[in-house]
Amino acid sequence: MSEPLYHPITIQNLTLDGNIFLAPLAGYTDVPFRTLAKEGGADLTFTEMVSVEGLSREGEKTLALLERSPLEEQYAVQLFLYSTESLSQALDLLLPFSPSMIDINCGCPVPKVTKTGAGSAMMKNPALITEAVRIIKERTGLPVSVKLRIGWDQGSRNYLAFSQAALDGGADMLTLHARTRSQGYAPWAEWETLATLKRYVTDGGYTAPVFGSGDLFEPVDAQRMLAETGIDGVMFARGAIGNPMVFNQAKAILRGEEVVPLSRRELQTLIIRHLDLMIAHYGEEAACKAMRKHSAAYLKGIGHSSSIKQALVQAVRREHYLTALNALVDL
Ligand SMILES: Cc1cc2nc3c(=O)[nH]c(=O)nc-3n(C[C@H](O)[C@H](O)[C@H](O)COP(=O)(O)O)c2cc1C
Repeated sequence: MSEPLYHPITIQNLTLDGNIFLAPLAGYTDVPFRTLAKEGGADLTFTEMVSVEGLSREGEKTLALLERSPLEEQYAVQLFLYSTESLSQALDLLLPFSPSMIDINCGCPVPKVTKTGAGSAMMKNPALITEAVRIIKERTGLPVSVKLRIGWDQGSRNYLAFSQAALDGGADMLTLHARTRSQGYAPWAEWETLATLKRYVTDGGYTAPVFGSGDLFEPVDAQRMLAETGIDGVMFARGAIGNPMVFNQAKAILRGEEVVPLSRRELQTLIIRHLDLMIAHYGEEAACKAMRKHSAAYLKGIGHSSSIKQALVQAVRREHYLTALNALVDL
């Protein structure tokens, strides 16, 4: 009998209950959001991308990104780098946070990052990924994963050669965001590249699990991606923004159960819970402002919610949120 699509996963010495993860999302996957994702069933969560440079300089904002949610028994820290010069120093500062795994970002398309040679620009430099993985493994003994794209652009679709370079360094897991850097986030991700990478890794005799990312918007998309590609697991990204319960919903679908959408009252409770986690973490005013993009995502697709959205754009106190969200149950 073939293995069920939802199953435990082993990444070197790290064993996880399941194979449905929360992807790293700069500006979103902070401690409050990761707390909700854990409550919502994420089997592993990733920090926002953390600069090796910033870390080695002990930058306060950089160190704050490493904080762990109380619900994260295990968590992965994602690093971005353009050279290995300050890597050992950064790793020494990272180790006291006891991450369960270190991930290397080779996918970020933002020019500020790529112009330094980091993020997706690393795909032009396979020698660097081999060296970075090797150093991280030697220095920390932790599992190391690499998150890559198909390539820099259509003329350079080198995901197999780049994955090989990562495996040469000893990478314990690969996650492919099935787009090139030049495709940005536009539809549609090329899921067939996930199947190709999985076959490549297996045929090479490697045990490193292959995870997929790209266009996982609805809970049912996890089942589709796993079934269509044969990969080992999936990472929800934009599909978790505005729905941190997506992980348990995806698991329910994989068990053959029906998923009932949240009622308006449940949605209201969820938004307030998110806000309260944000207030505990950032303080009231900063939390109310940072919560705006999340609220917009929670309310996306809810008919007649524009007046609530407008009120929330002005909100700087918890009570403003409560007042505005009162209307949600009557929609
Ligand atoms: C706002 C935003 C921030 C992101 N930040 C990161 C990041 O810090 N590190 C990373 O590897 N990928 C990052 N990504 C990429 C996602 O992890 C994911 O691979 C991508 O969104 C494709 O999945 P999706 O189409 O299901 O959203 C980001 C994506 C978005 C939309």
